[in-house]
Amino acid sequence: MELDPDNLGTREIYEWMVTTILPRPIAWVSTISPEGATNLAPFSFFQGVCARPPTLLFCPANDRYGRPKDTLRNVESTGEFVVNLVPFPMAGPMNDTAATLPHGESEFERFGVTAVPSACVRPPRVAGVPVAFECRLDRIVRIGEGPVAGHVVLGRIVRLHADDAVLAPDGKPDPQRMDLIGRAGRNDYVRLGELFRLERPA
Ligand SMILES: Cc1cc2nc3c(=O)[nH]c(=O)nc-3n(C[C@H](O)[C@H](O)[C@H](O)COP(=O)(O)O)c2cc1C
Repeated sequence: MELDPDNLGTREIYEWMVTTILPRPIAWVSTISPEGATNLAPFSFFQGVCARPPTLLFCPANDRYGRPKDTLRNVESTGEFVVNLVPFPMAGPMNDTAATLPHGESEFERFGVTAVPSACVRPPRVAGVPVAFECRLDRIVRIGEGPVAGHVVLGRIVRLHADDAVLAPDGKPDPQRMDLIGRAGRNDYVRLGELFRLERPA
């Protein structure tokens, strides 16, 4: 089978992408508006970029009417965000926070997610996650225009938080103890399964 994306509808090409590019890690992104309203939403178009300077990216698309999501609005106006990583026991609350709430209404408050003050940025982080990255905006790369157009948000990690309970005896994060979930397809998720090892060539 071979497909020309120009001959597919937006939904069709989206479904091809999200059912093939997987599993995807999930950035549970907390932000704050200039008025001080907190916001929390998941994004699975998410990756690390490089270690020096320590940089990651996530991609909030416009909604189907071409409007920016609250997360993007807050990042654009404040230049700060926190990426919280999602463990299996928090899958339900993470999914709740994908609901579209009126701008200024906090998913933290609506869905009873506990916020903890951050060290270097104004948006709080999520209590109980294994790892959280406090970030300052590096730049936003805009891809397309209008409905579902993309925004690549690049952020510099300015502080890393790790729950001591997920650290292995050598002090490094233990994948099994973190128990992070990933997204597979539209509403399917994965937990870390069996791991296998490959030695890197010299
Ligand atoms: C697991 C998961 C992953 C998601 N990934 C993305 C994504 O990468 N990009 C995006 O624009 N929306 C994504 N969404 C949808 C947003 O979370 C949703 O539109 C949310 O309401 C945005 O919130 P905000 O308006 O408060 O920023 C995802 C939803 C879920 C449940």
